[in-house]
Amino acid sequence: MPTPHNRANHGDYAPSVLLPGDPLRAKWIADNYLDDVKLVNDVRGCYGYTGLFDNRLVSVQATGMGQPSAAIYVEELLRDYGVKNLIRVGTCGGFSEKIKVRDLIIGMGACTDSSIVTNRFGAFNYAPIADYKLMASLIEYAGELSSVPYHVGSLLSSDTFYQEGGFEGYRKLAEHGVLGVEMEAATIYTLAAKYGARAVAVCTMTDCLVTKTEIPASDRQSSLDDMVKIALYTAVVA
Ligand code: HPA
Repeated sequence: MPTPHNRANHGDYAPSVLLPGDPLRAKWIADNYLDDVKLVNDVRGCYGYTGLFDNRLVSVQATGMGQPSAAIYVEELLRDYGVKNLIRVGTCGGFSEKIKVRDLIIGMGACTDSSIVTNRFGAFNYAPIADYKLMASLIEYAGELSSVPYHVGSLLSSDTFYQEGGFEGYRKLAEHGVLGVEMEAATIYTLAAKYGARAVAVCTMTDCLVTKTEIPASDRQSSLDDMVKIALYTAVVA
């Protein structure tokens, strides 16, 4: 059952998996939120863990940065490990001064420039969307548990972090309601759809591209607490 990128055996992952980009964030989530944790993958340092949250099984698997990397882990989780629910927990840049750093953005849809999505559909522009029930659950828990505001709308899943022209390169998308930029959601939504599984993304806005404000690096981990909690509750009731 192991793959070139994953040494886990079938059954090592819970049906619901949180997907941070950063392997050390996967470890931080496992260390701080899960009980009876088992490390199930460490190939290339891209950590995966399974443990208990609120006495129910859940997994967390890092995806690395960007859609080519995320596509490898996600395709294998869906195809080889039978995972059913994917919840990306990430960070994003913000496209509006109305969204403050530390606010949450829940990705109802995800635009993209990635050929991983666009090549798949020939002449058609596919619209990657979140699973409605997972999204509704995130929104409900955000309303109950989150100390920071949340926003629901479109993300951009970009293939480039260092966009030519900075925010100007994204202006048209911002003018059409896109709330922020990250680098994985559109491919995760597309692959979940392909395998009849469910996916949603929630991101903490860490740097506003309009106002140029950002969360200090030292505060980043603690500011992710609300996001991780609502994602874990969503995962274990999914
Ligand atoms: N671009 C892409 N991904 C990000 C950003 C960004 O500006 N900030 C946090 N994740």
